[in-house]
Amino acid sequence: MADSLEKLYLNFQKELNQIKDLNSLQAFEVKYLGRKGELTKILRGLSELSIKERKTIGEKANELKAEMGGIVANKRSELENKNYKDLATAEKIDITVPAKRLVGHIHPISQIRMELEDLFKSMGFLVLDGPDLESDYYNFEALNIPEHHPARDMQDTFYIEGDRELVLRTHTSPVQVRAMQKYGAPLKAIVPGRVFRNEATDASHEHTFYQIEGLMIDKEISIANLVAVMKELLAGIFKHEVEVRLRPGYFPFVEPGFELDIKCLICRGKGCSVCKHTGWVELLPCGLVHPNVLKHGNIDPEKWSGFAFGLGLNRLVMMRYGIDDIRYFNSGDLRFLQQF
Ligand code: PHE
Repeated sequence: MADSLEKLYLNFQKELNQIKDLNSLQAFEVKYLGRKGELTKILRGLSELSIKERKTIGEKANELKAEMGGIVANKRSELENKNYKDLATAEKIDITVPAKRLVGHIHPISQIRMELEDLFKSMGFLVLDGPDLESDYYNFEALNIPEHHPARDMQDTFYIEGDRELVLRTHTSPVQVRAMQKYGAPLKAIVPGRVFRNEATDASHEHTFYQIEGLMIDKEISIANLVAVMKELLAGIFKHEVEVRLRPGYFPFVEPGFELDIKCLICRGKGCSVCKHTGWVELLPCGLVHPNVLKHGNIDPEKWSGFAFGLGLNRLVMMRYGIDDIRYFNSGDLRFLQQF
């Protein structure tokens, strides 16, 4: 019996040296140490021995079993390590190659916003901020938009469930009144920011977009001041003088109200598909601040007057780069973004 144990161990060692991969090691382990394996066979035969022999041989066999188990475990980790090394060399991982740098950059809307902020700061304007989640009062009421005005329609405005007093602001104009209340007159400020409308989206409509509100309040402010500031702004953006014209436009918070058009930059006024053959492109709504709005801002309309405008940033970027679909801006599509 002792002989067979020794023979078993010798075979075990000889065969172990032939093992080159994990699969054969598995089969090898079953063969020697498995429930129906060689060693178990010997242990089963113990019952035929005398008690004394059973004890010595049994002990020896158990020692051997532990030793062989340890040897198999070592071999396994040796083979696993070798596998990893093989994989690493097969993939040729060169850890000295400099990492590919994936650096982001400023979104085109933010780029134009920063340019405009610099431009207005150079003219002495404050750059202000306001909440995206706005009260019904500032978004509508303080802007002279009465209860029945279509801008309050459920279709245009995202209301907050269970709270009709809060809306996602539909424009940056609410910050006009906030600024008046905080700083009083005279006042020059712009308000860049994100606005929301409950729109069915298409190439020229988005539910989330960006505006810059402009506000100037002083003594005897007129349309001439508005036009002068607009021309300065356009020259700054387009790097050459741009011709403008005003058409009447209705907004409850300005009186008179206008749509400001610019001479088409594509055809220079001759007429093309971009300007729908009119020679003019609509740029922004504007006007003189309505006396009721000044009153909500605690400013005396008898003493002060002002102009306001609302510039759509998405539209401006689209015009500058010839982008034909507004939905690209929030799409997160790198093929679009990497062009700027
Ligand atoms: N708040 C208006 C809008 O988003 C635009 C506007 C601003 C019009 C200022 C006039 C004066 O539609």
